[in-house]
Amino acid sequence: MKYGYFDQKNREYVIDHVNLPTSWTNYLGLKDMVAVVNHTAGGYAFYKTPQYHRITRFRPNGVPMDRPGHYVYIRDDETGEYWSISWQPVGKPLDQAKYVCRHGMSYTTYECDYNDIKASQTLMIPIKDPVELWDVKIENKGDKKRKLSVYSYCEFSYHHIDMDNQNFQMSLYAAGSSYEDGIIQEDLYYEEFGFQYFTADFTPDEYDTVRDSFIGPYRTETNPLAVEKGKCTSSAELGGNHCGVLGKHFEVEPGQEMRFVFMLGEGKREEGRKIRAKYQDFAAVDAAFNELHEFWENKFANLQVQTPNADMDTMLNTWNLYQAEVNIMFSRFASFIEVGGRTGLGYRDTAQDAMTIPLSNPDQCRLRIEQLMQGLVSQGYGLHLFDPAWFSDDEKQKPFSSPTVIPQPKGSDMVHGIEDACSDDALWLIPSVTEYIKETGNLSFADQVIGYADGGEGTIWEHMQRILDFSAEQIGSHGVCKGLRADWNDCLNLGGGESAMVTFLHLWALNHFLELAEIRKDEEAIKKYTAMRDTVKETCDRELWDGDWFLRGFTKDGRKIGTHTDPEGKIHLESNAWAVISGAAGQEKGTKAMDSVYEYLETSYGIMLNGPAYSVPDEAIGFVTRVYPGLKENASVFSHPNPWTWAAECMLGRGDRAMKSYMELCPARQNNLIEIRKAEPYSYCQFIAGKDHSAFGRAHHPFMTGTGGWAYFAATHFMLGVRPDYDALVVDPCIPAEWDGFQMQDAGEMQNTEIDVENPNM
Ligand code: GLC
Repeated sequence: MKYGYFDQKNREYVIDHVNLPTSWTNYLGLKDMVAVVNHTAGGYAFYKTPQYHRITRFRPNGVPMDRPGHYVYIRDDETGEYWSISWQPVGKPLDQAKYVCRHGMSYTTYECDYNDIKASQTLMIPIKDPVELWDVKIENKGDKKRKLSVYSYCEFSYHHIDMDNQNFQMSLYAAGSSYEDGIIQEDLYYEEFGFQYFTADFTPDEYDTVRDSFIGPYRTETNPLAVEKGKCTSSAELGGNHCGVLGKHFEVEPGQEMRFVFMLGEGKREEGRKIRAKYQDFAAVDAAFNELHEFWENKFANLQVQTPNADMDTMLNTWNLYQAEVNIMFSRFASFIEVGGRTGLGYRDTAQDAMTIPLSNPDQCRLRIEQLMQGLVSQGYGLHLFDPAWFSDDEKQKPFSSPTVIPQPKGSDMVHGIEDACSDDALWLIPSVTEYIKETGNLSFADQVIGYADGGEGTIWEHMQRILDFSAEQIGSHGVCKGLRADWNDCLNLGGGESAMVTFLHLWALNHFLELAEIRKDEEAIKKYTAMRDTVKETCDRELWDGDWFLRGFTKDGRKIGTHTDPEGKIHLESNAWAVISGAAGQEKGTKAMDSVYEYLETSYGIMLNGPAYSVPDEAIGFVTRVYPGLKENASVFSHPNPWTWAAECMLGRGDRAMKSYMELCPARQNNLIEIRKAEPYSYCQFIAGKDHSAFGRAHHPFMTGTGGWAYFAATHFMLGVRPDYDALVVDPCIPAEWDGFQMQDAGEMQNTEIDVENPNM
């Protein structure tokens, strides 16, 4: 079953059956103001941080599903009938009204065709201004004049998400609204920077700024009293819950189209006046839309492919890169799953995001690497979750300080000890640096001096050495890296037990480091880290082979994890893929290991993380044994490591196998399987329920997953095999035997390279 299709030309996903089983989301905004919205205009906006500067309110995980949002109602003033331009919140029967949602590149358009009135609402945030524009067009398709009204609706949030959800003492009486000159201002009285405005290009006939006055008692956004009556109450109040409602009555002749632009912005009424003056000119609205379009076209122009596989083209040329960019721009904490209660950067996730797309976004990748280097403790481990603002002087970014006493942490409190360190976090940063340098040619980047989180400073090159030294020091009795709080697998909590995956990662990071050391001619580093690499390689050979595949590690008391005698968690994807990618496995063992992975873990939706699922809690292995079988880290198809298997298969020269797995996971390929997948087919999801779960094949958590970056990286660098090196662009494809070849336009390091790969055996 499908609910929509890819419009390749416009780079839109068009949902023409809007009664989806779950919300399908999109991201608006490229800089400071951001909104996450779904296919029915549900969602929320924030400024810089979804935790401390929320603009609109959202009731996540609730019923009715994913409300409120940024809505526009249309009312027929002759009949009193009303509907919304997005299907929800009014929810007209779909056999009477035609609804479409188009998710595009940083904009979403909702369309509605009902009773001879064709309407659309495009949401977007211009690159230049922190304002969300709601560009509304209403056309009379009938043959008689119509008398209509239009009403906007959004619910303002207290800035601080915890205050907004937990302590109404703080939020309810410290938020006020007022209306003046066509502009609603919401002020958060306690906060120096706490202002939002809502306005429109026209002079409103009506307004409401108090939520409950507009909605009315015992009602919802589905049937607001004011819309039903066709009359707002001109409400405004200090204290309470507030909304952005502006109404306009108008007449529209047959064939005529009316246009209204609503503006939800950051700042005081004064700011609203300026923005309103600017976007009252519809040419400015169109220009803002075109600038977004150009922004994305310029990005995509960095790399385009034409392969024999249309789904791969759809992903690589548009949606996969879009997802990876969304990740590197906003990190991971704004979605409908993570609704903004955390902020800052997850160390390992961000490092991988930064590693994967320096071609299309070198500046943001570099910024993220610098921030992560600043979040490195001098001992060589990363702060697992931290806010770069802790190290910045920008006072405005600091959390709101509440008048009820909440102890203020000191800078030193932010630096957690080794007991909270994850063993893999900082290792990812080494290839992030080397990939960045290979892509940009900026060798001196490694000489940049950056502070350590706990004081002192050093060059990036020195930071890299501390990271490698930390992993060399933190080893267990087998010489394998300790798992610590967790390794890449958040739910594998080995503490003093040992992680094979991290030892392979260490080896991989050492390889990357040594390549750069050669270029830098740093003899001392070459000597020291070559010896370290040899030791690590010997450890891998000596300790980690299980006969048919590689172990996942050892518990603290020395039990093997992921061995052939284990009834559960017998084999794990991560350690086997990394044994190959790191070069530890070699061809023979690597082939055997990946064959085993394939034999035990392959499904029609991708490769499971491990199997058979754990069902017996085992504290020495960790939380993974307490996760329901088939969900999350316990034997689901965890998407993020799937591209590791594509890379590994390509390194083994098995392009057919890589492509098969690529297609199994491919969201676009599942466009016709939504009755099973449920989630959006234009985004990789964090995981897909595995074979041991009753909802096998159901995908969860779109957008915010490292799969975005890794799928792009593995497909382009390994499967298509085009990757930058220090002094050349390498073309080393590993494509399916049935492909006659592919074309690629790469505008990276070697400006505008046209690559044409032919399969000589075809
Ligand atoms: C989540 C986390 C990521 C972790 C993965 C596996 O995606 O964000 O850091 O590596 O789960 O546990």
